[in-house]
Amino acid sequence: MNVKLYNQPLDLISADLTLEFVTSEQLEFHPYKELLSQAGFKAEQEQLCALHEHRLLVCGIDKEKSDELYRSAMATAIKAAMSYAYTSLKCSQYTLERFRVLIEGVVLGSYKFESYKSEPKPSKLTEVIFSHENNDGSSNDFDALETVLNQTLIIAKATNYVRNLVNQTPDDMTPQQMAVTADALATSNNLECTILDVNGLEYEKMFAMLSVGRGSAHPPRLIHLAYKPENPKKVITLVGKGLTYDSGGLSLKAATSMVTMKMDKAGGCAVMGMIKAISELELDIEVHAFVGAVENMISGNAYKPDDVLRAKNGKTIEVRNTDAEGRLVLADVLGYAQENVKADYLFDYATLTGACMVALGPYTTGVMGHNEDLKHSFIQAGASAGEYCGMLPFNRHLKKLIKSDLADVCNVSSKPYGGAITAALFLDNFIDEDVKDKWVHFDIAGSAYTESAWDVHTYGGTGAGVRMTLNWLMEHCR
Ligand code: BES
Ligand code: ZN
Ligand code: ZN
Repeated sequence: MNVKLYNQPLDLISADLTLEFVTSEQLEFHPYKELLSQAGFKAEQEQLCALHEHRLLVCGIDKEKSDELYRSAMATAIKAAMSYAYTSLKCSQYTLERFRVLIEGVVLGSYKFESYKSEPKPSKLTEVIFSHENNDGSSNDFDALETVLNQTLIIAKATNYVRNLVNQTPDDMTPQQMAVTADALATSNNLECTILDVNGLEYEKMFAMLSVGRGSAHPPRLIHLAYKPENPKKVITLVGKGLTYDSGGLSLKAATSMVTMKMDKAGGCAVMGMIKAISELELDIEVHAFVGAVENMISGNAYKPDDVLRAKNGKTIEVRNTDAEGRLVLADVLGYAQENVKADYLFDYATLTGACMVALGPYTTGVMGHNEDLKHSFIQAGASAGEYCGMLPFNRHLKKLIKSDLADVCNVSSKPYGGAITAALFLDNFIDEDVKDKWVHFDIAGSAYTESAWDVHTYGGTGAGVRMTLNWLMEHCR
């Protein structure tokens, strides 16, 4: 979708269709009030009414008028507009602050993934034009609007880039293909790119990650992308779980739980999208994105429950469940990242536990770590970026649940509750002492993928983490 901003009042812009948001109060004074009420339109949130004879699409909006409601309403309206035969749509600003969420609604709401359809159905609508004018007739500063437009487009498009990667099948997006994709991103965005293959991983003593990948026909890759502007204000490390498929390994998942497990690479895809957006925004921060790209499969050579693995930082891990593989991969990637980059902050993103969904529901990212202020700042960044985040607190008793009688630590908890937190506490074993307060772990198991549309998301990957993190970086690393 082409999103444009014109320095003209709405009336002077020519487009096939005009989109208008209307509250129930505004409906009382609407010029087409009669027509709309005959059509049963009550201006309920996201209720749509198309007056084709007037080339007008009216979308109801709740009285509360929050950013979230506008973003979601725009996504709903754009989907409807795409189902008609119009080629262009226009809309006025609804204030500078609201401009961002409307653009997000357009770009994220119009997203379609049709790579696997033999007959894709592209929509006729290709252009959305915003006027500089507010809906009350006052106008906004054009330069300020243009800045918002450019920044928002970069971030929203990076989110769609992540969705595209996540939505690819395990046979198309293998660890090797993830590395090829990262390399292409490095070329287009002028990033440094280092890839470790099995030999490189062995040389680095990353035996936890290697073990997880051992049963697969597609060998693992470690991806390191770096964006290095001159005189950066901060150095940030991003780490992503990139399980291109998680069958559970020998602790095999049930048939129904295995479906959707192509999304287990969403954390890795998210950090690639983040560094893409960061480099395009030319932010004044040095950023390193690390992805542990691995496939968790069964075979005669697969790693087993009862194995003891030695991670890169020297700690030994008793494996009691091969389906708790993400934390094993992250243990090594976190170790590698800390050894190679001394960063001001270390953030990791992983579809780590089903327990996170049990705790917070399927829409919310779990936020964990030792630094309370830092975690709070992410809850805020998430809220203003339109991502739900919830904090899950550590405590010393939960930490005891991953003790091992045999090795230094066990990869699963001895009790069935609090699994998202015990997984994070497992990762804590691989965070260096001086990094503890700089680290935040994001469990995106619920938020990264959906099988039913909600908010600005359709079936498939959501791009969870990108908007929240970019929002945080732009606020905290200026
Ligand atoms: N990738 C899964 C977690 C997951 C589950 C993500 C559902 C998205 C949706 C992870 O590797 C896993 O299997 N975790 C296990 C951990 C358990 C064996 C301790 C889980 O959540 O059941
Ligand atoms: Zn698993
Ligand atoms: Zn997994």
